[in-house]
Amino acid sequence: MKKLALLTSGGDAPGMNACIRAVVRTALHQNIEVVGFRHGYEGLIHDEHIQLSHKSVANIIQRGGTILKTSRSQKFRTEEGLQLAANHLKKHNVDGLVVIGGDGTFTGAIALSHKINVPIVGCPGTIDNDLVGTDFTIGYDTAINTVIDAVDKIRDTAESHDRVFIVEVMGRDAGLIALRSGIGSGAEAILIPETKNDIPKLIERLKASRKDKSSKIIIVAEGDESGGAYKVAEILKEFFPQFDMRVSILGHMQRGGSPSCMERVNASIMGYNAVQALLQGKYGVMIGIVNKQVTYTPFDKAIKHTQALNADMLKMMEILSV
Ligand code: F6P
Repeated sequence: MKKLALLTSGGDAPGMNACIRAVVRTALHQNIEVVGFRHGYEGLIHDEHIQLSHKSVANIIQRGGTILKTSRSQKFRTEEGLQLAANHLKKHNVDGLVVIGGDGTFTGAIALSHKINVPIVGCPGTIDNDLVGTDFTIGYDTAINTVIDAVDKIRDTAESHDRVFIVEVMGRDAGLIALRSGIGSGAEAILIPETKNDIPKLIERLKASRKDKSSKIIIVAEGDESGGAYKVAEILKEFFPQFDMRVSILGHMQRGGSPSCMERVNASIMGYNAVQALLQGKYGVMIGIVNKQVTYTPFDKAIKHTQALNADMLKMMEILSV
C-alpha cells in the first residue's frame, strides 16, 4: 500500500479531526502517502484534493468540525457524479480510501465500490449515533454533553420562573441524543421517533406529575412524530393553559465544539484501525468499538439502524424523573 485517500462526508461531528489526524499519522508511519479530498464526495467529483502531512494535522485533535470540510453531495447520487468520483480516485492511483461519516457516507461507499476496485474502510462520524456496529459514533458523546450543558442552563431559568420548557434536540431518525441527554439532564419527559403515541402519554404523565415541581423540561427529538417542539407546546397549551411555557431549539450548536476526551480517544482508535484494516486486507467495513473491542461491520449492516431502543433506559428515565 503506497497511497491512501481520505474524506469526511455528511453532517460534521466533533472528533472528526481527531480521526483525520489518526488516519494521516498512522499511514505516514507506514510510509503511506495520504491525499485528502475536501468537501466529501463533492470534492472527489471535482478533484478537490490536498496532500496531507504530519504538519497538516497538527493542532487539530481539540478542534470541532472537520479540516477537510464536508458536504451532502446530491451529484454523487447521480451516475455521472459517481463516475467522475471514481475517475478521480483512479487518476490519483490510490490503493485505499478511508471515509468518515454516517449512513449516507457508507451508502455512497457501497455505490463507489461498484464502480472502482479500491478498498474502502469507514469510520463512524455522526452525532446521531444511529449506526449498527459501534457503541458510540464519533461526535455523539460531545453532542450529548453539549445538550446537557444547555439544558442545565435552561433549568436554572425554568426553575426561577416556574416554567415548562420544550427543548428540541437533533435526531432526524433516531432519538438517541434525546434519550441519553434526557437521562443526563433529569428531564421530565422525552419524545422520540422510536416510540409512538407520545403526546397522549405525555399529557397523562404531566397530569400525574408531582404538584410541588416548579420547573419541567420536555426534550423532543427533531424527528419525533409530534412535529417538533413548537407543535408540542401548542398541543400542551390546550390541556394545560396554566403552564408558563417556552420553547428552545438547540439546533446546530449540537454539531460544534471541542470534542470530549472520550471522543478524541475513540476517534483516534478508529482512525488508527482504519489504516490497519486496509493493511490487513479488510475492506467494505466500518470500524467500530463495541465493549471496548475494535469491530468491523460491513457497510450494508452498519447502515441498518433499526428503531429498536433500550426499553429499560426509557423506563428508568420515567422512574427517576418523577
Ligand atoms: O448529522 C446528523 C444531523 O445532525 C441530524 O441529526 C440532523 O437532522 C441533520 O444532521 C441536519 O443536517 P443539516 O442541517 O446539515 O442538513
